[in-house]
This record gives sequence, C-alpha cells and structure tokens, in this order.
Amino acid sequence: MIHEQKARGAEPLSFTAFIAACLGKAVDEDKSVQAYRKGRNQLVLFQDVDISIMPTVNSSMQGKICMVTGANSGIGKATALALAQMGATVVMVCRDRARGEEAKSEITTKSRNNAVDLLQADLSSQQSIRQLVENFQHHYTHLHVLINNAGAAFPGRRESVDGLEMTFAVNYLAPFLLTNLLLDVLKASCTSIGLHSDG
Ligand SMILES: NC(=O)c1ccc[n+]([C@@H]2O[C@H](COP(=O)([O-])OP(=O)(O)OC[C@H]3O[C@@H](n4cnc5c(N)ncnc54)[C@H](OP(=O)(O)O)[C@@H]3O)[C@@H](O)[C@H]2O)c1
Repeated sequence: MIHEQKARGAEPLSFTAFIAACLGKAVDEDKSVQAYRKGRNQLVLFQDVDISIMPTVNSSMQGKICMVTGANSGIGKATALALAQMGATVVMVCRDRARGEEAKSEITTKSRNNAVDLLQADLSSQQSIRQLVENFQHHYTHLHVLINNAGAAFPGRRESVDGLEMTFAVNYLAPFLLTNLLLDVLKASCTSIGLHSDG
C-alpha cells in the first residue's frame, strides 16, 4: 500500500497519494490535482459520497486511530466516512457540536462502524486546540493518522481570540500547533501519516 510505504519514511502524504491509498490503486497526479482544484462540482461528489470512489475492498484501516479536523462537511466529512468504511477508529474534530453530531450519526450509519468519536474544538483559538489535545489524550494513547483538513477563507480582515489574522490562524497556525502537540503520540504510534491541504 502506498500509504504504508510512505509511512515508513514518515513523510507527509500528498493529497494524490492519500486518494491513491484510499482507492488502493495508482492515481494520475495531474488528473487528481485537477479534479481536486475544480472545486465545488468535484466536492459535491465527495460530499454526497458515492463511496464507490473509495472502495474498502483492498484497504483496511482496522486498528488505526485517525483524527480528521473539519469532519462535519466537505472533504473532511468524506474522508472521515471513507476511513470509517475502511474500519478505522475515526476521531472527528468539529467546531459546532450539533453539526458534528449530525455528521457523526450519518457516518456511523453509512459505514456501519461505531468507532466514530466526536471532539469539539474551535481551531481559531490556541486555547481550544490545547484543550482538544488534552481531551484526545484523555481517551486515546495512539494516533496513527492526523488529517489537518479544517480551513476557511475570511474576506476582509478578522482577528481570532488570540489577536491573529483569522485565515492565518485557522489555515496555517492551527495545523502547526495541533501537529506539534500531537507529534509525540504520532511518533510513538510508528506508522503515522500527516496530511495537510496546500490550498
Ligand atoms: N474545496 C476545494 O476545492 C479546496 C481547494 C483547496 C483547498 N481546500 C481546503 O480543503 C479543506 C476542506 O475544504 P472544504 O471545501 O471541504 O471546506 P468546507 O466544506 O468549508 O469544510 C471546512 C471544514 O473546516 C471547518 N472549520 C472551519 N473553521 C474552523 C475552525 N475555526 N475550527 C474548527 N473547524 C473549522 C468547518 O467547520 P464549520 O462547518 O463549523 O464551518 C468545516 O467542517 C479546507 O482547508 C480548504 O481550505 C479546499
């Protein structure tokens, strides 16, 4: 499996490699990047997840603990569902508990995997990120996959509770802080994979 090969070298996975790992077959880099960048139309495919694009047959994530941020919608939700379908324990990180619960229930039903957990965090707040890691470590001793998916674009200047420009805080600093706080547990889990959107 591509993701296992990459994991041995502890290199971050590209989006293309991750999709290839999920599909269990090679993916044309140009085509997958184009499809991804096409944006909304393509996203609908992910959102409504006709999971035929994410077959479970050749890909088992049984026994793996995977955290997905921004898991209540879009790419994050599709990824959480695909991982749950592959048998992973999925820790969904969502900003809004109600939206998170709704997505969790849908993912549990569609994947028939009850090992789907929900942790609430506002990733624009560094205190909330630290609290998230504390909550996670209270329940889990391992983390095999961290998917820093959550992100947003804010028109005009807005500041986070920490006084940082909002897009910078959520899209850049939050993944950096979260990954660093989880680095020890990721390393200790040996087959860790990091994935971060370059959008
Ligand atoms: N779709 C594309 O074509 C594309 C292209 C390039 C890059 N990307 C990147 O890929 C990622 C996913 O994109 P998407 O299109 O799936 O976006 P999306 O549907 O808007 O989902 C973004 C997710 O991030 C969460 N989020 C935003 N701010 C947050 C915060 N402060 N704390 C916690 N969660 C927060 C959202 O939660 P709420 O529901 O609570 O808002 C939502 O679950 C983003 O990082 C985006 O920048 C997407």
